Amino acid sequence: MKSYFGYENKVCVVTGASSGMGKAVAEILVDLGAKVYAIDLNECDVSGITKFFKCDLSKKEQIDEVFKNIPEKIDSFFGVAGLSGSKTDYRTTFDCNYTSNMYITLYYLKDRMERGASIVYCTSTAGLEWKKFKKEQNKVVHAKTWEEVESVTRKLASTAPATFAYMYSKRCMSQFACEQSVEFAKLGIRINNVLPASTDTGMKQEFQDMIGGEDKLIEQAGLAGRLATPEEMATPMVFLNSDMASFVSGLDMVVDYTDTCLKTLGLKKNIEAISATNPIICALAKKMLSKNTNTKALNSGKEK
Ligand SMILES: NC(=O)c1ccc[n+]([C@@H]2O[C@H](COP(=O)([O-])OP(=O)(O)OC[C@H]3O[C@@H](n4cnc5c(N)ncnc54)[C@H](O)[C@@H]3O)[C@@H](O)[C@H]2O)c1
Repeated sequence: MKSYFGYENKVCVVTGASSGMGKAVAEILVDLGAKVYAIDLNECDVSGITKFFKCDLSKKEQIDEVFKNIPEKIDSFFGVAGLSGSKTDYRTTFDCNYTSNMYITLYYLKDRMERGASIVYCTSTAGLEWKKFKKEQNKVVHAKTWEEVESVTRKLASTAPATFAYMYSKRCMSQFACEQSVEFAKLGIRINNVLPASTDTGMKQEFQDMIGGEDKLIEQAGLAGRLATPEEMATPMVFLNSDMASFVSGLDMVVDYTDTCLKTLGLKKNIEAISATNPIICALAKKMLSKNTNTKALNSGKEK
């Protein structure tokens, strides 16, 4: 039988492979015969992978260590790992979601990929409005080193709430993917983005807490009437990096069961169309979030 996907014996690097979407990606790739090099902060129990690397992607030195042990020729990269920012600080959240992908792409993939190779990043519908906010992202996206990204986001990291790092990092990632897809196209390498809507993964509880419960999260999911499964996000990523998508590059693939269409048609409020860096908005959001946290702490104290 003809193999349409073309993953047999291909070297595939997957970040975030221990849980949720990344784990589902790794499982499908193993099934398709790929050699899977999995990277995550937590242990990975996917059977059949070639090698697992425990690594904190918010630390440049740890990434360097991992890539010393990954083959010189990489066929596909899946940048799936991510943090919501509800339990981590701004710096860690931003560096895991954005800086690590930028660094891996420019410092490792560019040299180790050949014509026909492919890259997919997992961003988010939270970053959908990136085209409207290019001015806010330009300095970060045009920074070429880890240190430069750190430097241009230093002030923000100390003033904005960590949950804002989520939206901002995803917007930066979408813009980076768009700009780099053009550069990498000259080398015959494809770059695409998958923008997932709410999905039932390890991160669900954190989004649920932010929005005020599971019912609200499902209500926000719109016409689907449920959250997506990790596999429903993994399959578009596997498709985009496969031979089946050989002419697809520079795409922001929104996987949200029409939610964006509802917003485009004015049938649903677009709460994502706000600045992620404006000092007044950041200060207000920080104040509001700390008020919520204090109220929650008080309430949980009463219950005891
Ligand atoms: N779940 C959702 O509703 C949703 C929606 C939109 C986008 N996303 C994005 O999907 C991607 C996958 O997340 P998920 O939903 O499967 O959540 P998840 O929590 O199940 O998986 C995330 C994985 O990333 C790993 N990780 C986190 N920080 C890391 C670090 N510093 N270094 C190495 N690994 C790290 C975690 O250990 C975990 O295995 C993320 O980029 C996330 O932002 C999720």
